Parts: sequence; structure tokens; C-alpha cells
Amino acid sequence: MSGDEPVLYLNGGFVPAATATVSVDDRGFLFADGCYEVTVAIEGQPIALDRHLARLQRTLDSIRIDFDAASLAPIHHELIERNGLADAALATVYVQITRGVAPRTHAFPVGVPPTVLVRAQAIAGPSRAAIENGSRAITGDDIRWGRVDMKTTGLLPNVLAEQAALDAGVDDVILHRDGVVTEGSHTNVFGVIDGGLVTAPADHRILPGVVRGIVIEAAHGVGLAVAEREWTLDELAAADEVFMTSTTAGARPIIEVDGAPVGAGRRGPVTTRVQGLYGEFVAAERRG
Ligand code: PDD
Repeated sequence: MSGDEPVLYLNGGFVPAATATVSVDDRGFLFADGCYEVTVAIEGQPIALDRHLARLQRTLDSIRIDFDAASLAPIHHELIERNGLADAALATVYVQITRGVAPRTHAFPVGVPPTVLVRAQAIAGPSRAAIENGSRAITGDDIRWGRVDMKTTGLLPNVLAEQAALDAGVDDVILHRDGVVTEGSHTNVFGVIDGGLVTAPADHRILPGVVRGIVIEAAHGVGLAVAEREWTLDELAAADEVFMTSTTAGARPIIEVDGAPVGAGRRGPVTTRVQGLYGEFVAAERRG
């Protein structure tokens, strides 16, 4: 079944996206008191949905919103069908869950159900140029709060950092805390140093990206060294290759940082290999 009008899922039902509304008293609006998740679907097949829902459950539990993330799996499939996305080259399914609607006061409201939104939309995806030729980045101060391992909706620092990159005429930003590289505004960051991968450890300072995890597992599988450790801006500047990972763009080369070329200034062999490994994971998911 696929209608012409986009449909989304809100609080237990499917409604036209054009008329769906959330209250001005929603705590997501007032406090950014909520969390989210983004999964992609390729020709209707969600990629790594189990990992995304597991991460959503971890965030929900961490911020003490009582909701069963796994219950949203069939909603993902139904939204893809209802929105005619079964053949779409690339679509995202976006989930946002907030602590619900209540008069504005900081304490948790009692007996209030969470607000649950799920929507599916076709997206363009990364350009061939971004995948093959890479993009340029600046570095920026990571001014976010201390628990960015939770995928919560207070993304103003990420928005400001991304806009600073665009204002500087580049596409991406690599964040750091006092010279220690963390991640991008909406990506994880890897360096290639001495032939192996280096990336920030999955602690409270980064989001444990789903693609990051898949890349690390795949690298282990083929004997490619991975160091999950603190690494610095100096190491970033000296890295042979740098790439970013995210659900919406897979693995993308970064060929310039703060105006200086990374390595040879073009996509390197290790990045190409990692793109291939991730591509194999995606192909396996699509086979089901
Ligand atoms: N961003 N780090 C941050 C801060 C992110 O927001 C994201 C994802 C990632 C990569 O995680 P994953 O591999 O699970 O996509 C890392 C999503 C796509 C977003 O905010 O739109």
C-alpha cells in the first residue's frame, strides 16, 4: 500500500505528515528532553536496524524514558511501505522520542506517556564525488555536554559547528577537546596511522556510531589494525588518511583539514578498503 501523501507515525497511529502536530508543551520542544535515532533503508531494506534500536534503547534507559525501542521495528517497515519507499535508492527512517507533554517544570512529569514520532523520507545520499574524491574539513572546539554517547536531541553545538564549517567554505568539521580529537558534527572520525586505523574510544565523549562499530568489526575480521584510543590534532595533521563514518554517508574520505592536505590529498588505499568492507556489510544486510 503506498499513498501519495507522506504518512508518519505519531503516538500509536499513522497520520498524514502535512497535518501531524506536537504540542507546544512537549518537553522535546521546551527542554530538548528526548532522544532520536536515524537508520537508512536501501530499496526498502533497513540497514543495521537491530543495532540502531539497541542504541536507542540504551539512550532511552540512560535518560529514563520508559519505552520499548524494539517495538518500533515493524513501524519502520510499515512506514517504508506506506510512503512508497520500497524501491527508493536511499531513505532515512527518523525516530524521536521525548518525555511527553506536560506543564513546564524541570522534574519528570508523572504518568505522562512519551511522545513517539517515526518518519521515513527519501534522501539524496552522498554524491559520488564525496565518496571518491572526499571533502574538506576544519577543526573546531567540541563545546558539547559531557554525555554525547547518548543520542539526545540537544544538538545546538553540533549545528553551530557544522555551520562554521560551511561558513568557512568546507563541508565538514572535526571536533576536539583540548587538542584530543573526538568526532564530527554528525559523524565519527578515523585516521590512518602506520597503516592501521585510529579512532576515539567509545566513551562519554563520542557517539558510538553504528557505522563506526561495523567498520571496526570488519577491520578486525580482515586483520586491519584498529586502535580505539585518544588521538590528537597533531596526529590528525600527520595522518596518512582521514575518513568519516555515518549512517547516511557510510565512509567518506577527508582530504584536507584546516587548509592542509591529508597525506597525498586524495582518497587513500585504506579508506577505499574500508569503504569496500562497509559495502560488503550493507550487501549482506540487503540479502537479509
Ligand atoms: N548522526 N557522531 C554524531 C555526533 C552523530 O550525530 C552521528 C550520526 C554519528 C554517526 O553515527 P552512525 O554511524 O550511527 O550514523 C557520530 C545522524 C546520522 C544524524 O544526526 O543525522
